[in-house]
Amino acid sequence: MRKITVPEIRETKTNGRRITLVTCYDYSFATLVEKSDIEMILIGDSMGMTMLGYEGTVGVTPDDIIHHGKAVRRGAPTTFIIGDMPFGYYNESVEQGIHTANRFMREINCDAIKLEGGRRSAAVVKGIVEAGIPVCGHIGLTPQSSSSMGGFKVQGKSMDAVEELLADAKAIEEAGAFMIMVEGVPTTVCKYIRDNIGIPIIGIGAGIECEAQALVMHDMLGFNEWVPKFAKKYANIGPQILDAFNTYHKEVTEGKFPTPEYSYNTKVEGLE
Ligand code: KIV
Repeated sequence: MRKITVPEIRETKTNGRRITLVTCYDYSFATLVEKSDIEMILIGDSMGMTMLGYEGTVGVTPDDIIHHGKAVRRGAPTTFIIGDMPFGYYNESVEQGIHTANRFMREINCDAIKLEGGRRSAAVVKGIVEAGIPVCGHIGLTPQSSSSMGGFKVQGKSMDAVEELLADAKAIEEAGAFMIMVEGVPTTVCKYIRDNIGIPIIGIGAGIECEAQALVMHDMLGFNEWVPKFAKKYANIGPQILDAFNTYHKEVTEGKFPTPEYSYNTKVEGLE
């Protein structure tokens, strides 16, 4: 499939096309996303939890994103790849943000970067866009600042909070972002923001009124039993994998594997 372009993503704001993104962190799964109809991959800092066993996203480094991102790019050469800027690598200065974004573009060969924050991140978004790198914003429930938010909580629950979110979205749009991820807000809030900005929204836990949707791969494939309310399990691979591990172990311990079908049965002269 031909890679979607930034102008085509922008056009979803007006042409009614709906597009999808899934997170991905390795070569094998990337080959499957590449074969699918999904247009975009995020090398998400959610790898802190899904790949590295951390409790959250803080602690993920640019080297982590680049290591996994290079593998994903090898598996998905024609998928639009967004590199997720990790906490602490774009909040010190505009120059620091440009430096991290440049590394993602050069070393992963990604197509865009994503970073969290509204008005507080507008200057760095502007700097990265002016350096020639497409930027996707991220507002609402922003996992990197879950500590300031008092946890992973739905955002935009009062009209004041909604207006703050809209001001954040407008600041990111004005700074030059081509798309904004809106996470963890009621459907009506997302629609209100969508109707008042000129760039597409990619929603995760933000309802159906968005131009694009995102899901974390491990959630949508059902790797773990618990998933957030908004994450639909399109498969249930966790129990299937566990069943495969246990069946393999059982067959070996019961002497049922490997049968001749799974063995090299070449006759060796002189060997009974
Ligand atoms: O890192 C991540 O998985 C994200 C999600 C919100 C898509 O940023």
